[in-house]
Amino acid sequence: MTGIYQQLEIPNGDKATSITETEGEYIYNFLKDNNLKKTLEVGFAYGCSTAYIISATKSIHYVIDPSQGLYFNLGLENMEKLGLKKYLNLKNDFSHNVLPGLLKKNVKIDFAFIDGGHKFDDIFIDFYYIDLLLNHKGYILFHDSWMRSTQYVVSWIKNNKKNYKIVKTPVNSLTLIQKLGEDVREWCHFKDFFIIKRGLFLKNVFLKFLSALGFGRFFKNSLPDKKRNNLNGK
Ligand SMILES: C[S@@+](CC[C@H](N)C(=O)[O-])C[C@H]1O[C@@H](n2cnc3c(N)ncnc32)[C@H](O)[C@@H]1O
Repeated sequence: MTGIYQQLEIPNGDKATSITETEGEYIYNFLKDNNLKKTLEVGFAYGCSTAYIISATKSIHYVIDPSQGLYFNLGLENMEKLGLKKYLNLKNDFSHNVLPGLLKKNVKIDFAFIDGGHKFDDIFIDFYYIDLLLNHKGYILFHDSWMRSTQYVVSWIKNNKKNYKIVKTPVNSLTLIQKLGEDVREWCHFKDFFIIKRGLFLKNVFLKFLSALGFGRFFKNSLPDKKRNNLNGK
């Protein structure tokens, strides 16, 4: 354990805004283990994820967030307190304004953490530009894997961007992807993308299992139409 979390000032009533200690420790170790130095993140707030990232790299880190004032400038104070401020390159603006500027300047990165706006379109736009900034073999880490907006963006990537692979993490709330090669899609390429509603999926698996054991007649009304018709001999 790094002990970083305990040194940060985060208001008690707003702890959920920041990443957890477990997530922070994972990010720290991941960056160290892979010796990644060129980093960027969207979403600063109290600077929790930033503290872990900079502590691991001790290198210039781009951070994008328009709202430090709303967080009583505690993110900046935390950086100062931990002696990390000299590595912080904070862009006080929305990511949709900043990322295209970095692209124009030909900035290149090896790791990005996306934890800014949480709507589908916010995350998608962040991914779109970060992909263009990301070096070959670079990584993108998404926070809040449980959110359907995040899941849809990841599903779009899985189905459409074959030059990315999902890398397993031991932390459920984080989704990690790695860029492997060029994007070679045709101009008209598009593959449908979707997410499975987990509860419904598990229910159907369970019902199918019972059905296979011969218990179908007891619950046939809860089965999807096709299966019910099969049981009814249609
Ligand atoms: C969940 S907090 C980030 C927490 C941070 N990763 C941490 O661990 O402390 C989300 C942050 O994203 C910022 N944000 C929201 N929409 C944004 C956007 N379009 N561009 C950049 N930042 C955005 C908010 O101001 C907020 O500070």
